[in-house]
Amino acid sequence: MSSKSTNPLELGRSLSVPNVQELAQSDDQIPERYFRPEVDVAPLASIDEDELPVIDLMKLLNPELIDKDELFRLGSACKEWGFFQLINHGIPEEVIEKTKNDIKKFFKLPLKEKEAFKQIPGHIEGYGQIFVHSEEQKLDWADVLTLNIQPSQNRDMRFWPSNPTTFRDTLDTYTLKIGKVVDCIYGLMAEDLGVDPQDMLNIFRDQLQSVRINYYPPCKQANKVLGLSPRSDGSALTVLLQANDVHGLQIKKNDKWLLVKPKPSALIINIGDIMEIMTNGKYKSIEHKAIINMEDERLSIATFHFPSIDVLLRPFPELVNSDGELYKTISAKEYAIEYFAGKLNGKNALESMKLRK
Ligand code: OGA
Repeated sequence: MSSKSTNPLELGRSLSVPNVQELAQSDDQIPERYFRPEVDVAPLASIDEDELPVIDLMKLLNPELIDKDELFRLGSACKEWGFFQLINHGIPEEVIEKTKNDIKKFFKLPLKEKEAFKQIPGHIEGYGQIFVHSEEQKLDWADVLTLNIQPSQNRDMRFWPSNPTTFRDTLDTYTLKIGKVVDCIYGLMAEDLGVDPQDMLNIFRDQLQSVRINYYPPCKQANKVLGLSPRSDGSALTVLLQANDVHGLQIKKNDKWLLVKPKPSALIINIGDIMEIMTNGKYKSIEHKAIINMEDERLSIATFHFPSIDVLLRPFPELVNSDGELYKTISAKEYAIEYFAGKLNGKNALESMKLRK
C-alpha cells in the first residue's frame, strides 16, 4: 500500500473567508478587512516586456542554437532579479491555451458548483484562500484553488474540479510539462553556479509540486485592496503563467515595486526561499505582490516546486566561502512549517533563518 507522504500544504492551516468573486459582483460595501492602507498599491514603474530578463531555453538546450551568454544571463537574472521570463520553453501553445481556458471556465461556474471543491476547514487544499490565521487579519482580494500535484499519491481528487470536464487532464499535462522545464532549469543553474549537477539532482529527485490558481476579481476601489500580500515564495522554484492579458504582478527591486508586463506565452520563473538558502544567498528570493484592476478580472496559475520534505536545507559546498554558511540548517519540513506560520509577513520566514542579520 502506498502511504501518503507529507507535503508542504499539509503543514499549513487557514481560516475560511468570504468568497471574493461574489463580493465583487454584489452591491455590498467592501468589508474593512480588505482595505490595505498599510500597503503601497501603486508601483513606482512598470517594466515592459523586455525589461524583466528574458531567457530563451532553446539557446540553452538546442546544440545548434547554443549561446554561451545565455547561461550568464540566466545566472545574473537569478542573482540580480530573482525573477525572469522564459521563452521558447517547449511547452506547446495548445497546452498553454487549454490551461488558460479551463481555469477561466472553472471560475465562471456558479458559486455552488465551485464550492463542490471547497477547502475543508483547517486545510489548505481546495477552493478558498490560504495564509489566513486570524479573524482580524487583513485579507487578499482573491479566491484561490490550491492543489497538490506531485507525487501523484498526494493528490486529493476531492478538490480537483471535474467541470470543465477536461480540467483534470489539462492540469495534469500542464504541470507535467512544467516539472520537466523546471528539471532543465535546475541543471542549468548547477552549471551557472559551478555546483555538482548530481548534487542538484539528488536534492530535487523526488520533488514536490503544487499549484495555486489565482482569481483576482475587479474591484471598484482597486487602489485600496491587494490581490496577493507581499511575500517571497517558500518554494525552490515557482513558475507563474498569467492566464489572461490583465497585468498585476509587482516585484521588488532595489526597494522599489515594479509592475511586470510579461511577454505573451512566456513563463515567469522566480527563485524561492529554499533556493536562496541552498545557494547560500547567491540567488535571490524576491518579495512580490499582486494588485487588482478596476474593471477586469485577472487570473494566474503558480506552480511551486519543493525538495522532498526530509531533505536537509543547506548550501551546496561549492557555494560556501570563507564567510561560511549564511543560513541555519533546517529540514524542508521545518521550513514549510515556519513559512506557513508566516502570517503574511513577507520575507520573515527567510529572515529568521539568517545566521547574520
Ligand atoms: C503566487 C503569485 C502572482 C500573480 O500565486 O504565488 O506569486 O501574479 N502570484 O498572480
